[in-house]
Amino acid sequence: MTAVGIDAVEIWTGKLALDLAETFAPRKGDDPEKYTKGLGLYESSFPDAYEDIVTMGANAAYRLMERKDLEPEDVGRIDVATESAFDNSKPVSTYIAGCLEQVYDGDFHHANKGERKFACIAGTQSLDDACNWIRAGRNRGRGALVIASDTALYARGDAGEATQGAGAVAMWVTEDPSLVTLSTEQGYGSADETDFLKPNQQFPSVDGKRSIQVYLARMREALVDFESVAGKVGPDDYAYAPFHTPYPGMVRKAALLAYRHTIRDTDVEDDLADEIGRQPRREDYEDEEAFDDAIRDYMDDLKEQPEYRAWYDAHIEPTLAISEHVGNWYTGSVHLARMAALYHAAEADRDLAGEELLVGSYGSGAQAEIHAETVQDGWREELDDLAIFDRIDRRYDLTFEEYEQVHDRHNHEKQSELEPFTTPEDEFVFDGWGPMNERKYRYVE
Ligand code: HMG
Repeated sequence: MTAVGIDAVEIWTGKLALDLAETFAPRKGDDPEKYTKGLGLYESSFPDAYEDIVTMGANAAYRLMERKDLEPEDVGRIDVATESAFDNSKPVSTYIAGCLEQVYDGDFHHANKGERKFACIAGTQSLDDACNWIRAGRNRGRGALVIASDTALYARGDAGEATQGAGAVAMWVTEDPSLVTLSTEQGYGSADETDFLKPNQQFPSVDGKRSIQVYLARMREALVDFESVAGKVGPDDYAYAPFHTPYPGMVRKAALLAYRHTIRDTDVEDDLADEIGRQPRREDYEDEEAFDDAIRDYMDDLKEQPEYRAWYDAHIEPTLAISEHVGNWYTGSVHLARMAALYHAAEADRDLAGEELLVGSYGSGAQAEIHAETVQDGWREELDDLAIFDRIDRRYDLTFEEYEQVHDRHNHEKQSELEPFTTPEDEFVFDGWGPMNERKYRYVE
């Protein structure tokens, strides 16, 4: 079968930053370490007055097309994943195509366009759709532009406010890609849940604490389902495990659970038994409560073990290096985690070609999906022009009052006027409203 996957990636961060420890925590009366140590977040990204999901998506896609020397006729699909859409009928992908047609001679009339919705997991679902389209032989030699773009805003005062973020990830999906190929094996954990939802409203209704439990339960199901087709996963089978990252602390919890699962009935469990005993088995306990207590105690001990710490530092921590500075990008988050892992390997001068990643995506509502990716020979060159950390460093640093103004600017019910904090250059910008209440965009040189 043809190898299919991601050939190249471009990342566009919202151009404003909110420092959580220095600026946000004092105004909320919180200890800054709740953010930096507890949630594991340093800053959030926000869109400037002229940015939104279309501009961020179009800017990422344009840079990607330029870098890969692509013309519109090379693109057979434009799939956008978002949970921040502002139109219940016309998909964001049409707006993005309209932007790109302003700067290219050709058009995208031949390209299939759509919009995927399933909370944060929609980014991976769009990637999957694009891969399946190529595997089915329908692409006629063309590739797919898959764009995950979100402004992850919460109502002010909501506990989720600390985890906000904004940005877009554009992926070029092709046959024989340079970056990673995707396994056909996948595992799912999917259930009707109401932990995080937006019933015709911009800001989510969230049961934050329950959402954490739902994330863990669905991820666990997805891992078991993945193992049923791909075979048992060992703790060191994968170079990195990029997971959906609503905030790094969430991934810390998921990683401990995954480690416990993958070492069960292995030599690692036996080796650790001298220190912390073997993992509790359900059949050894009279009731669920006693079993849960025993598991909790085991996990508390496990996370202090040097073996676990070393595993976490090697396979998980590197995947968080972008997220901790930009917050939750919803559909784009897991795709940032993948790129953070590849950056880490590049900085360590590690030869990653042929090694595998275990990718865990998640969307509230709720569904988790796990698949494997194989790093390709050209991965290192694909990172050279990305410079995401430079863009993160160049963001405008907001005061708390400015943050509130930006939040109001992007609140669909307020849409208040706001002078931009940055000057657009070589990028698409929001340019006001058309006669049918459509959004207008233009390219600024
Ligand atoms: P909260 O009540 O503000 O925070 O809500 P907390 O009191 O639970 O503290 C957070 C952590 O910081 C805790 O760590 C504290 O102990 C620690 P934990 O016990 O969980 O390991 N902490 C400190 N650590 C060091 N020094 C201190 C200190 N103080 C506290 N001084 C919550 C946190 C995540 C619930 C909230 O931010 C929220 O509601 N977020 C939005 C929902 C969310 O992100 N859920 C995650 C799973 S669902 C998901 O991923 C899907 C999503 O992306 C949406 C989609 O799919 O579309 C959200």
